[in-house]
Amino acid sequence: MDDFLYKDWYAVCLIEEIKKDKILLKHILNQEIILWKKNTKIMAWENLCIHRGSRLSLGSIKNGILKCAYHGWEYGESSQCTKIPSQPDIKIPKKACVKNYKVIEKFGLVWINLSTNPNEFIDIKEFNNKKYKYVASGPYFMNAAAPRIIENFLDVAHFPFVHENYLGIKNKAEINDYDVVTSKKGIDATNVRVFQPNPDGTNKPGEVIYDYHVHSPFFASFGKNISKKNRFVLVFYVTPISEFKSMIYSITLMNFGKLDKKTTREYQDFITAQDIPIVESQRPELLPMDLQSELSIRSDRISIAYRRYLKKLNISFGVS
Ligand code: FES
Ligand SMILES: [Fe+2]
Repeated sequence: MDDFLYKDWYAVCLIEEIKKDKILLKHILNQEIILWKKNTKIMAWENLCIHRGSRLSLGSIKNGILKCAYHGWEYGESSQCTKIPSQPDIKIPKKACVKNYKVIEKFGLVWINLSTNPNEFIDIKEFNNKKYKYVASGPYFMNAAAPRIIENFLDVAHFPFVHENYLGIKNKAEINDYDVVTSKKGIDATNVRVFQPNPDGTNKPGEVIYDYHVHSPFFASFGKNISKKNRFVLVFYVTPISEFKSMIYSITLMNFGKLDKKTTREYQDFITAQDIPIVESQRPELLPMDLQSELSIRSDRISIAYRRYLKKLNISFGVS
């Protein structure tokens, strides 16, 4: 596993996916993770009982204690074993502790980090601006490699075709020469002009300017300035389940109007459902790092920058 990717933060669930006294099972980077909560505190552990290695996801939770289904060993929120029913009198060894992971909870999502030496958690600037309302959506599942999914997120040229009459119009499919800058912080593409059927919600077709950002290999966002003051932002997190299978969460942010949870989620569900068959169909499944192996044109410059960026970070997961 690439060191940089292993140390990154991954969106693992919506906060509301973790129900009281229920164990939530997730798969990240070929590992099984269980999530559960005590009051409002969220725990993320390896799905493995340290006694005989059975899956803790088969266990149960009562009064803030997680009990393994096999021999009933009990674990408290610190993941330390607190009770061994077959030998209640022995001193429980310190080693009797389930592997646990760091958790961050924010904007309706939960992120975890598998590493003991995590990369910095990246906040986008709109997160700290109180004028923005937000709604988290997902999970979406794709039988596709994470870099393929990010590249599709960065691609505006597919709007008129895959999202016809929603994000683009077929007879206005031309993409301008936008600007792309790669730095230590990732990639910024600005002045990306897209002709849309209804860019500001007034049903008047017109051009809208997007800015796209890659913050880390599987984490990107775009902003679209609907008017001088009104801005719409979509933040996009791809969490690899394995090299060929991924889970996606997004956060919609707006500094204007009403942001209804149900409508926002339904819209994101609808748009993502249009992307899924296309991205799942792409061959090779792993994103080619050899820039000659697919045919790139000027309007693909952000995807070229993305492939170069992955190469520079020495990413080998999800690419070929
Ligand atoms: S394997 Fe979990 S208690 Fe024995
Ligand atoms: Fe799309």
